[in-house]
Amino acid sequence: MPAPAMTETETLPILFVPDKRLRLKARPLGDGDGDVIRALAPKMLATMYAAPGIGLAAPQIGEGLRLVVLDIQPKEKPDPMVLVNPEIIAESNEVATREEGCLSLPGQYADVTRPARVKVRYLDLTGAKREIEGEDLLSACLQHEIDHLDGVLFVDHLSALKRNMILRKLAKDLKSQQRG
Ligand code: NI
Repeated sequence: MPAPAMTETETLPILFVPDKRLRLKARPLGDGDGDVIRALAPKMLATMYAAPGIGLAAPQIGEGLRLVVLDIQPKEKPDPMVLVNPEIIAESNEVATREEGCLSLPGQYADVTRPARVKVRYLDLTGAKREIEGEDLLSACLQHEIDHLDGVLFVDHLSALKRNMILRKLAKDLKSQQRG
């Protein structure tokens, strides 16, 4: 049997709403999880780039772990980030509104209002404590991905009317895709 081509990192299937695993609170990673993180992070990055997307949280690939990957840079100069146990430790009173989408709600977009700037504490791949401050796209992306770790989706920030409209449209789109 020929060996499979191993030139590219394996990608993982992304869960779509209404998969219940997207609604669970993910568990923090601990000292014993180094191997899990090192195995999962490259696959999550490969999955995110292939989608393509700018952020992916572990619950979106069915892993209930507080692990996020993101890269908001243009494709020509990738800057992959891996955030272990990220948490928002400060946020601005000022808010900003921008259009968001989500790999778990393919094809659906809406304006979401969030704090304009956030400070996030996390561990990097080596286990070192780090902090990052984000504004604009990075701020929204950090908040969106950290939301995923608590089972929160961008549509939860919308009115019930708007949310239900998007969820109905998503269900319809996914159904018509299945029919091919
Ligand atoms: Ni998302």
